[in-house]
Amino acid sequence: MAIGVFDSGVGGLTVHRELVARFPERDFVYFADQANAPIGGKTGEQIVDLTRKGCETLFDAGASVAVLACNTASAVALRRLQQTWIPSQQARYGRPVNVLGIIVPTIEAATGLPWTYESDMSARDDKKQAIDILGVFSTAATALSRVYEIEIDKRREDLAVFSEPCPGLAGLIELGATAEELKVVVDEHVDSLRRKIGRHPDTAILGCTHYEIIADLFASALPDRTRLIHQPSAVADALERYFARHPEYELGSSGRRTFLTSGKAGAQSDMVSQFWGAPLTFDAA
Ligand code: DGL
Repeated sequence: MAIGVFDSGVGGLTVHRELVARFPERDFVYFADQANAPIGGKTGEQIVDLTRKGCETLFDAGASVAVLACNTASAVALRRLQQTWIPSQQARYGRPVNVLGIIVPTIEAATGLPWTYESDMSARDDKKQAIDILGVFSTAATALSRVYEIEIDKRREDLAVFSEPCPGLAGLIELGATAEELKVVVDEHVDSLRRKIGRHPDTAILGCTHYEIIADLFASALPDRTRLIHQPSAVADALERYFARHPEYELGSSGRRTFLTSGKAGAQSDMVSQFWGAPLTFDAA
């Protein structure tokens, strides 16, 4: 059995790399649904359907837990799958299986509060000025879900959230665009968010795992004082706590790594090799 990691493409590798560092003895299977990438511009029903199929691929390949290393899938599909689909899959696979997302850990890291915390809405002082501004760069579907705005507002009245959808950016990263091409797009979005807010954010979330691959471009477009939340380590922290509470999931112990794609099998782009530190090859799912 193994820890499964799902993304539409190579973005989830940013989370996978952190999870492997955190659980080196565990077995991992990564599935990139590159035949359908990018998913950030698709409809809600399409995203739910593709995420469910991606989890099936992971469970069929031996995963007991499917980590959605994708903000879009976590924002749009996670709750539906956990509530309406996962319960029937335990019987189908004859072992405990589950699907987990990455937005809850990211919000915990951004707010500094556990997910179970909810501020007392009745005690809120409406006249209080928001004192910190959080910017979220994401796909169109994640921005449309407003999950970061809604969930952070429930927990921190002193944190105002502004989203900047970056349609097309994940697709460019997936295609292995050059750093020069990507810099132009990143600079445009950082500037668009600055104009929306009236200044740069105090904190920013790269709310699409593809963007973490080019975190250096975001960091250089933003001022030094803007703190970037590191989504992969927030997810690894949360998963460590989750596995401690749930010893029923069989995660393997041979350190096996499998990389699958629904797209073209073979070597990934130079940008991915550079990020990964070595050439990386995906097999056909
Ligand atoms: N990496 C994904 C995310 O975190 C999906 C990008 C896409 O396929 O549009 O949202």
